[in-house]
Amino acid sequence: MTKGNATFINQLKDHVGQEVTLNGWLYNSRASGKIQFLIVRDGTGLCQCIVEKGKIPDELFEQLKRLGQESSLSVTGTVRADERSVGGYEMAVTDAQVIASSEGYPITPKPHGVEFLMKHRHLHLRSQRQWAIGKVRHTVIDAIRRYFNDNGFVLVDTPIFTTIVGEDQTSLFEVDYFGRPLHLTQTGQLYLESAAMAYGRVYCFGPTFRAEKSKTRRHLTEFWMVEPEVAFIDLDGLLHLAEGLVSSIAQRVLADNRSELQTLGANIPLLEKVRPPFYRLTYSEAVEILKGPKTREFMTRELDNLQQQKKQMESRIAELEKQQAGQLKQWQQDKIAAELIDLRGELEEVNTKIENNPKHDQLAAEFTWGKDLGGSDETIISQMHDKPVFVTHYPREAKAFYMRTDRQNEKVVENFDLLASAGFGEIIGGSVREDDYDRLLVRIKDQGLNPETYDWYLDLRRYGSVPHGGFGLGVERTVAWVIGERHIRQCIPFPRLMDKVYI
Ligand code: 4AD
Ligand code: MG
Repeated sequence: MTKGNATFINQLKDHVGQEVTLNGWLYNSRASGKIQFLIVRDGTGLCQCIVEKGKIPDELFEQLKRLGQESSLSVTGTVRADERSVGGYEMAVTDAQVIASSEGYPITPKPHGVEFLMKHRHLHLRSQRQWAIGKVRHTVIDAIRRYFNDNGFVLVDTPIFTTIVGEDQTSLFEVDYFGRPLHLTQTGQLYLESAAMAYGRVYCFGPTFRAEKSKTRRHLTEFWMVEPEVAFIDLDGLLHLAEGLVSSIAQRVLADNRSELQTLGANIPLLEKVRPPFYRLTYSEAVEILKGPKTREFMTRELDNLQQQKKQMESRIAELEKQQAGQLKQWQQDKIAAELIDLRGELEEVNTKIENNPKHDQLAAEFTWGKDLGGSDETIISQMHDKPVFVTHYPREAKAFYMRTDRQNEKVVENFDLLASAGFGEIIGGSVREDDYDRLLVRIKDQGLNPETYDWYLDLRRYGSVPHGGFGLGVERTVAWVIGERHIRQCIPFPRLMDKVYI
């Protein structure tokens, strides 16, 4: 099957002038008389392969001409650099072999709706956009592991079946564990705290499950979270750690995935800004901002911007619709149809934002100290900043039992959320942990949890308790923010949502 020198598309730059073989799939093709242009993808990129009649046997030329989208094949030919070509290199084909032909591939270059694509996720992963997202996700995960491994952290795998409630009793997935009720983990944190007492600095990285009843673009029921936990650290130390992690993720993606970021239309200058120090606000300061004139002005400006965007989109749609009515080639029709689908989707979003603007403005204006920040409040704060923002010291009553009460102000806890820039909202939640046995026991009881279940956790405060803390970063939300994708469901290969498990 692999004739000559088999190579990969992303290595073609080392083979200019040489004859090599690529193994892949037919992404797209067009023929004009004696010449065919095959766009081949091999998992590392796309390459235009040019087939000229007379340079290969006629029978093969005809076979390639009939070849359907996503047929698998090997192509052999000479590599040449061409700036205009996708990927910058192309191949003059001297031989080819069809491995398996494909007919009627469901995802054509024509536009498709989200529902259709989700049902065909197993195939959709091959498309340019999903492929690029997967590459960025890979880099994000690698950057996370590297950051911790290079900074003296020990990886500790925490269990998925668990007895404890880590975050919130209303979002547990119960499982029947040989007749005994258990649930799927919401966080590895409590186990990780015990490991931090053994190794000092640890992290866990795995799937996390939450029976979230909210169908928002920010919630999955199964998502991946990385959680570091550190002995002898205070809140300031945690903010430094989080800032370092998030900056190193952004810089790695910029270094490794520039072309994917371009494919995805990511905001590259915004990512370039992601360097320490991030902004820091206390919860009380955030509330002041939300209730104050700065937010009123900001929301009015936002509304103006949105209305302008709406006008522009509507006139572009009208223009395209006019063009559509004229005499066009099929590929021109397809191109217009694709742009219209995108535009109509964007217009719908802008309309929703216009509708929500006054509601969110009112929610912010009427915010009362003591509540957790809502999604819209986080969005406002994060839209107002060009770099990520830490919000610290939330009201104790709004937060989980394990967070350490601030000894200077007992109404708040020593915690933080990191709100990503550009309206993406929370990507990290973390805190210093309550290290005092008596206070922790009171908090467990206050939240209606059974102290017996947490007896092992209390042991950590019985035997050599130390100040410690950590945080959790959601991988899908981070990827979504980095690439500028609004729906986190696109940032995991096989998403699980409250109302949908497609495949
Ligand atoms: O803020 P959370 O709930 O914090 C914890 O679980 C802590 N125990 C972490 C720790 O201190 N070790 O979740 C942490 C992050 C969020 O900031 C968000 O990025 C992500 O996990 N996350 C979700 N991502 C997708 N879908 C959901 N339903 C998510 N819930 C949380
Ligand atoms: Mg949180």
